[in-house]
Amino acid sequence: MFIVVGVTGGIAAYKSVHLVRLLVQEGHDVHVIPTDDSLRFIGLTTWEAISRNPVTTSVHDDVARVRHVALGQSADLVIVAPATANTIAAMAAGLASDLLGTTLLATTAPVAVAPAMHTEMWRHPATRANIATLRERGVLIVGPADGPLTGGDSGPGRMSEPDDIVAAALSFASPETADLDGVHVAVSTGGTREPLDPVRFLGNRSSGRQGAEIAAEAARRGATVTLVAASVDAGVLDTVAAHPRVTTRHVETAAQLGKAMTDAAATADVVIMVAAVADYRAARVSEHKLRKEDGPLATIDLVPNDDILAGLAASRRGGQVIVGFAAETADEDLLARARRKRERKGVDLLVVNEVGWDAGFGAGENTVAVIGDGGAVVAEASGPKSTVAHAVWDAIVAARAAG
Ligand code: CTP
Repeated sequence: MFIVVGVTGGIAAYKSVHLVRLLVQEGHDVHVIPTDDSLRFIGLTTWEAISRNPVTTSVHDDVARVRHVALGQSADLVIVAPATANTIAAMAAGLASDLLGTTLLATTAPVAVAPAMHTEMWRHPATRANIATLRERGVLIVGPADGPLTGGDSGPGRMSEPDDIVAAALSFASPETADLDGVHVAVSTGGTREPLDPVRFLGNRSSGRQGAEIAAEAARRGATVTLVAASVDAGVLDTVAAHPRVTTRHVETAAQLGKAMTDAAATADVVIMVAAVADYRAARVSEHKLRKEDGPLATIDLVPNDDILAGLAASRRGGQVIVGFAAETADEDLLARARRKRERKGVDLLVVNEVGWDAGFGAGENTVAVIGDGGAVVAEASGPKSTVAHAVWDAIVAARAAG
């Protein structure tokens, strides 16, 4: 796709470097239009290097090729990220005072806007009215997310994460495939927390991002989604939870996650366990904060948790597809271990992903293989977690069709 990325003058401009990189990695032809103000944050050289295309801010450059409208006319998609309150106002008013303004007026392509500003500015009636105007014109507004802002304060106004903006904008630009229309999907995500006492827990590094992408992709394809979320990183669920066909249930422990997934599985056509479930919990949870002098912190007795996935697979209804995830550290035995795990858990598909200190958990990108009938590798994918989610769903849809 020919994608124009408008970058306006907010500190979140640095995050858009990653956004442009993601789009280029996915094979898109990306043209960045920074506003003059934004160049105080990120310079032209960075945009040219990352987008691999020439970059200019002026309507007076490249006049021979009528650049001030040519980019807008060629675009298949325009993303404005970050979009300041000022840019949003200019868009609502239809101002064409710079190259980004003329491009936005010249384009008939879908436009996605990722606002970034302080909470007070986001909540101001002027901004509310401008956002409503853009929405009425069919502009997709992604975020803003709720979280820490530059001034040390916190609230809605933070630009959404680049992966979320890319996923939302790309699916907005290419019409939904409706191959999950009418299908109910149950997805678990995040890492469980097993309490030791009122302030301590056993947990893991799962960010919840891959499960959120799996749920978002299902909703895009027409499914009704129950998303059971254990502990996730801040902002990971912002976009997916806002989808009208997604219901989110928050849980903490493996036992709560098991109960919520079992409830959802009673009506689900596809059950996907992406969550990193603790294999053990404390044998005793102290009512009071454990103290060093009491001694019990040095040794914690553990008891095993139920294997939720294996339980769901054993009690599956006819036609229900059960999908597991396996996080494995890379070695030559990775696929063999994954095949054994698929058999042991009795699942239809096992998505095996490589984890390490810097891969998989929390990372924006993932590398997976999907193991199906007879241990065959039925799909492989590598890249942003949204790309991986797409490939996993293609494999699930194929498995459902094969019966
Ligand atoms: N899982 C589960 N219940 C558990 C543990 C894991 O449902 N108590 C699910 C996870 O959500 C995931 C899959 O099982 O879909 C694989 O988890 P993993 O921890 O890799 O499997 P284990 O059986 O714990 O194997 P290992 O000994 O390699 O940790």
